[in-house]
Amino acid sequence: MSSQSPNPNESLRIVSLPGDGVGPEVTRAAVQVLEACVKAAGKSLEIIELPIGGAAYDSDGDPLPERTESACKQAHAVLLGAVGGPQYDSLTPDKRPEKGLLRLRKALGVFANLRPVKIYPSLVDRAPIKAEYLRGTDMVVVRELLGGIYFGEPRGWDREVGKAFNTMIYSEAEVRRVARVAFELARARGEAGGKKHVTSVDKANVLEVSRLWREVVTELQKSDYPDVALAHQYVDSAAMDLIKNPGRFDVVVTGNMFGDILTDEAAVLSGSIGLLSSASLGDGPGLYEPIHGSAPDIAGKGIANPIGTIASVAAMLQSSLGLADQSKRVEAAIDSVLQAGHFTADLGGDITTQKMGDLICQALEAQ
Ligand code: IPM
Ligand code: MG
Repeated sequence: MSSQSPNPNESLRIVSLPGDGVGPEVTRAAVQVLEACVKAAGKSLEIIELPIGGAAYDSDGDPLPERTESACKQAHAVLLGAVGGPQYDSLTPDKRPEKGLLRLRKALGVFANLRPVKIYPSLVDRAPIKAEYLRGTDMVVVRELLGGIYFGEPRGWDREVGKAFNTMIYSEAEVRRVARVAFELARARGEAGGKKHVTSVDKANVLEVSRLWREVVTELQKSDYPDVALAHQYVDSAAMDLIKNPGRFDVVVTGNMFGDILTDEAAVLSGSIGLLSSASLGDGPGLYEPIHGSAPDIAGKGIANPIGTIASVAAMLQSSLGLADQSKRVEAAIDSVLQAGHFTADLGGDITTQKMGDLICQALEAQ
């Protein structure tokens, strides 16, 4: 698995998809950081901004217009803010903002969604979980992104009989390719001092699809990754351990819906969902987005935390743009701004979205 790597002299082509709610605000701050890093690396950058989600429904009548989809496919990487909002709740399923994002993930073939759970030392006392539980927490959730109940057919709502249904389905090949990403990641993290451990999360005591999942993961570990430790855990028990004993996890691999739910929960460990980044990877361009939603309650107020989106830019620099040094600079800049005591409202501070972006850019310059 690799994202299309740009040639050394090529200008970096990025598509920015601000989307809905706080999406445009956090994306603006993150693009500023991206521009600063690409400039520092001596590269040129072409950023095209296009609509997705509700904004695209408003402008083009489609949550993923053809022009957006084709530009994303031709980019080196895609940065996305958020999609969704209550004003779109009554639209038919194919027009809903979320459908635009799901279609984009499918179009880009990004089957592995990496969501690191980072504990910034300066935030330990601001997290709702006691500091003693957080010690040693350093994990990445690898969420399968293109299958499972999100995409399974048949699906539908038969209003006459009063029943609705979805299908949770995984093929062996779908499980194997995402499990391989998890094992590779655990191995690489092991080389950097990590636990070299994968926890595969399922509901194999109830679901056939989970029993297939478990069997495929077990076989892959035996054949190709005997050096990486593997544990299986039911999703309900994993949900509890995430809060009670997060330090025991290293790499977690799980299906689409379990991964969606567990990563919002895991975000609580870091102190705010506004801090968590994600990288969605396949064979083409990577898609980078914060894990939070469009937060309509605070949209337009300029108070959203842009760090999740800025950390997604760090992931992009690392995994799609071949600029690992710049990626480390961004992470260090985020750390130093937080350490200096600057916080957005979600963490009890009064720093605005724009100001946080500016502070992180200043910290980059000061390095
Ligand atoms: C996420 C979001 C999306 C998902 C929504 C907006 C479709 O919750 O990226 O976690 O469920 O995948
Ligand atoms: Mg989610």
